[in-house]
Amino acid sequence: MRIGVFCSGGDSPGMNACLRAVVRSALDAGHEVVGILYGYEGLLAEDFFIGPSGERVMGLRSVSDILRRGGTILHSSRSEEFRTDDGQRKAADILRRHRIDALVPIGGDGTLRGAMALARFWEGRIVACPGTIDNDLIGTDFTIGFHTAVDTAAQAVDKLRDTAESHRRMFLVEVMGRHSGYIALYTALVSGAEIVCLPETPTDVEQMAAHAARLKSRGKTSVIAVVAEGDELGGAMALHVRLKASTCPFDTRVVTLGHLQRGGSPVPVDRILASRLGDFAVRGILAGKTGVLAGEIRGELTLTPFEQACRGHKPLPQELLALLETLSA
Ligand code: F6P
Repeated sequence: MRIGVFCSGGDSPGMNACLRAVVRSALDAGHEVVGILYGYEGLLAEDFFIGPSGERVMGLRSVSDILRRGGTILHSSRSEEFRTDDGQRKAADILRRHRIDALVPIGGDGTLRGAMALARFWEGRIVACPGTIDNDLIGTDFTIGFHTAVDTAAQAVDKLRDTAESHRRMFLVEVMGRHSGYIALYTALVSGAEIVCLPETPTDVEQMAAHAARLKSRGKTSVIAVVAEGDELGGAMALHVRLKASTCPFDTRVVTLGHLQRGGSPVPVDRILASRLGDFAVRGILAGKTGVLAGEIRGELTLTPFEQACRGHKPLPQELLALLETLSA
């Protein structure tokens, strides 16, 4: 078989580790791998990986020493043209012309929706891998890159705690997550933050100010609030403005971590997850599977139909929300 592989949407640490696993597992089983550059956009432009000797397939050495590297050597994009029926038809024709039999897209919910749309016009097999820092996909306990993003954010919060303590301040730290509070919740738990503001739960500024006052009366000399960018009040800067006009007893500062969370070398747990899922996706294709997301649920490798994986965002574990409340007293 000729298996195409690409990364799409927001990049995530571990995408390279996943790509390495796809290439090496496919070659081990006697198949060919075509690397598609820049996601769906590159597919439409027929922008394929070309090796140092001009070869158009990915060899064993094409993925050497990428396991530890952040970003993606195949690059990524968000494609407007591919969102249209015409774009999807064109992509299907290109795949046929290049004799590609199967695809492994690595990306988040937009990538899965793209794969589902493509399947309306293309007969090849598609098994996707969950590459996104957001951890919002149903069908896997964790997505590739999530743990690294939380590690990066938590290291930043640890540093901010030092200066917050010195000056007796409150820091509002904005983390990524337009629709999902996973990064915010885990960062808050990992760094001992007192407050978390999430897209999934309502945020009340006066309640937040009263909570900060209660913490102060119990002897707290600094407060960290981790704010998901998708919080309904509009992120950390908007909250900062409103807190200033409230009864909050702390002087506040804002730090937006932004795309910092998307880079860096993947932590071991992301490297292992990426390696297992890349290999599993190839084995799924060879076993005739299609239209599914490779994932890991309670340690077991699973395949979940795209329709199910894209049905809303994975709900937050209520138990962890309660734990944060108890422990941040
Ligand atoms: O989906 C991953 C993600 O990093 C989100 O957390 C964030 O909202 C978005 O991508 C940012 O997208 P862009 O890189 O296009 O600004």
